[in-house]
Amino acid sequence: MGMRPNYHISPKHGFLNDPNGLAQFQGKYHVFYQWLPDVVPQGNKIWRHCVSEDLIHWSDQGCGLKPEEWYEKNGCYSGSGITEGDSYYLFYTGNVRDSEGGRETYQCLASSSDGVNFHKEGPVVYLPEGYTPHFRDPKVWKKNGRWWMVVGAQTKELKGNVALFVSDDLKKWQWKGNMLDSSMDWGYMCECPDLADMGERQFLIVSRQKEDGCKGMVFAGIMDYEQGRFHISEDTGVLLDEGFDFYAPQSFADESGRCILIGWLGAGELEYQMSQPTVEEGWLHALTIPRELFIQNGKLHQRPVKEFERIRRHERVIEAEGYTFIDQETWSVELLAEQLSSQKISFNFGNVLKIYFDNNNLLIQRKHWNMKGYDEVQVEISELENIQVFLDQSTAEIFVNNGEKVFTFKAFFTDEKGIEIESEQTIL
Ligand code: FRU
Repeated sequence: MGMRPNYHISPKHGFLNDPNGLAQFQGKYHVFYQWLPDVVPQGNKIWRHCVSEDLIHWSDQGCGLKPEEWYEKNGCYSGSGITEGDSYYLFYTGNVRDSEGGRETYQCLASSSDGVNFHKEGPVVYLPEGYTPHFRDPKVWKKNGRWWMVVGAQTKELKGNVALFVSDDLKKWQWKGNMLDSSMDWGYMCECPDLADMGERQFLIVSRQKEDGCKGMVFAGIMDYEQGRFHISEDTGVLLDEGFDFYAPQSFADESGRCILIGWLGAGELEYQMSQPTVEEGWLHALTIPRELFIQNGKLHQRPVKEFERIRRHERVIEAEGYTFIDQETWSVELLAEQLSSQKISFNFGNVLKIYFDNNNLLIQRKHWNMKGYDEVQVEISELENIQVFLDQSTAEIFVNNGEKVFTFKAFFTDEKGIEIESEQTIL
């Protein structure tokens, strides 16, 4: 049957990375992703297009943007989507390499009136002074009647930052300078910046490239649109997701006003990616499930969009105490464990994914696929209320305490189908 997920976006063949161009247009959800027809991470990236009515069942629409013009000849790199009136606009990076291996970058626009055909309008933003050509991934949103664009950047000092632009017509863009305090450590490049403006609070989401790794981070703060600066409230950002296989997330507001986030369920070193067993099936990586962002106790949380409740099948409500075994037919599963009241507890999903909680300590282990043993991540949490787990053949997403913490992993399940739970007290 293969390892392709049932309810996640994944390519039938080839290589997937970042989600792009997210929007709800004339009622339908549109998601594009960075795509290559072969299972290799490098190449002239294409935007592959998918459409859904419900954020769960996706239909592949083929190639949305292909690198055909001089300003994008080496790839239509990541970017975002917005809708205005009867139009759907895509902003993306045109990646150009010259014969000496040098790089050029153009922030480009494409528009559509039907969500099917996208008309390329060419570059709308050229590289301003003060940056290297590592300048990409435009994200556009509307605020105070104007359009704002952030672009991930590396300054000439080889420091990460985010360039801010403003426009009244989506075509002419004025550069407002660096949005982030350059005395802070933003690594050597900020990829895929995003500002989730959730009314009273704003959150900067950025995929920070640092010597010690590349991670999707979130910083709470206040966006000062007058000054064009994002003032962070706390010095340190937090990981948006603490699993190993999550990067380049992007948010969008849907027609009902929900702020929804989708990330790349992939990432890592080349060797790590290419060692994954799905390569043998001719495809690699997936996108995460859509997650609704919300604020609880001043902190950003993520919960699976409520549409997932509608596809629950063979639902079983179990009161567990001591040892419980749940038989499984497939590894496309949702498990919701509530009323955990901080007791010592463990979950074992087919010996591939294990979760333990004891004494404020949450430990998650994920089995290696090409060597013995497990990779693990450990975090302190003051209490444990609930855990929601979504597994889908080769993916695992774990939402702890209403999505205060989220962990995303590749998890390659084998034939062992059961879930084991051990608890001290009754759980539901
Ligand atoms: C992030 C990223 C983006 C770029 C795209 C290219 O994963 O490196 O910065 O636009 O992937 O596929």
